[in-house]
Amino acid sequence: MITTPTILLVEPTFYDVSYSINPWMDPASWARDPRGMHRNATRAFESLHAALQQAGFTVEAAPGAPGLPDMVFPANAAVVLDGRAVLARFRYPQRRGEEVPFEQIFENLRQRGLLDEVTTLPEGCYQEGAGDCIWDAGRGHFWAGFGPRSSRVAADAMSAHFDREVVALELATEQSYHLDVCFCPLSGGEVLYYPPAFTEASLRDLRARVPAHLRIEATEDDLRHFSVNAVNLHDQVVMTRTTPHLRAELGGRGYHLREVDLSPFMLSGGGAYCMTLRLDRSSGVTAAAGAAAAA
Ligand code: ARG
Repeated sequence: MITTPTILLVEPTFYDVSYSINPWMDPASWARDPRGMHRNATRAFESLHAALQQAGFTVEAAPGAPGLPDMVFPANAAVVLDGRAVLARFRYPQRRGEEVPFEQIFENLRQRGLLDEVTTLPEGCYQEGAGDCIWDAGRGHFWAGFGPRSSRVAADAMSAHFDREVVALELATEQSYHLDVCFCPLSGGEVLYYPPAFTEASLRDLRARVPAHLRIEATEDDLRHFSVNAVNLHDQVVMTRTTPHLRAELGGRGYHLREVDLSPFMLSGGGAYCMTLRLDRSSGVTAAAGAAAAA
C-alpha cells in the first residue's frame, strides 16, 4: 500500500449528463451545448487536478469508459483503508456498468503495489463507495450514509470487513443522496454537515459524537454550492467555488481554501470530494486530529 497522500481521479473523456438519477442532474442544460459543456468539464477537471497537487496530493489519473459518464466520480467506486479496497455495488442500472471497468482500474493499482487487496461485498446490498462510507481519521472510524443509495446492511458489512467501527447515518432527502454531499470530517476534528439532510435519530447520533465546538453547520446555500463535498488534507481544503459563510467559517479555523469552478460536474450532482478517491487512508489515528476530536 502507499502511505503518502494519493488520490485517484478518472479522466472526463466520456463525461456528460445524459440521464438523471439525482435531483441535481440536468440533462436538458447539458443538451443545449454538449461540446461547450464538455470543453468546460475538461478545463474544470484540469483545475481540480492542479489544485489537488498544490494541496499536497499525488494524483493517479485513470481512464473512463464510453457510455459510463459518471465514472468521473470515483468516490463511488470503492472504499479503501489500509491498502484494502472493497468494490462498490451501484443501486441504479445507469451506473452498474462502471463496476467492471473500476474492477480493472483497482486490479491494476494492486498489480502496481498501490493497493494490497481488491474484494467485493456480499451479494444482496448496495454500497456506493467512499461517497457513502467516509473515513474519519481523527476518530478512527467510518461514517456511513444509507437510504437513497447504499443499504443499511452495507455499513455492517464494512465494519466486519475492516474490523472498524462504522457509524451509520440515515439520509432523509434525495437532495443529499450520498453522505459526502452533506457531511465532511476535517483534520482538526471538526465536522462540516448540513443538518436537514439527516433523520432526527441520525442527527442525535452525530451530535452525540461530535462536541458543539467542532460542529460546523452548513447552510442550504453551502449545500447548493456543493462545498460540503470537500477534499481536506491537513490545513488544505479543495472545494467548489464557495460561499462567504464557509470562507469565513473555515478560514477562521485556520483552513486554507483552494476553490475550483466545478460547475460542469455540479450539473451531475457532484463536487470535489465525489471526483476523488483517497488510496492511502490508514486506520492509524493521526495524533493531531485525535487530540482535537477528544478535546
Ligand atoms: N451523477 C452521479 C450520481 O448520481 C453523481 C455522483 C456524485 N458522487 C458522490 N459521491 N456524491 O450517482
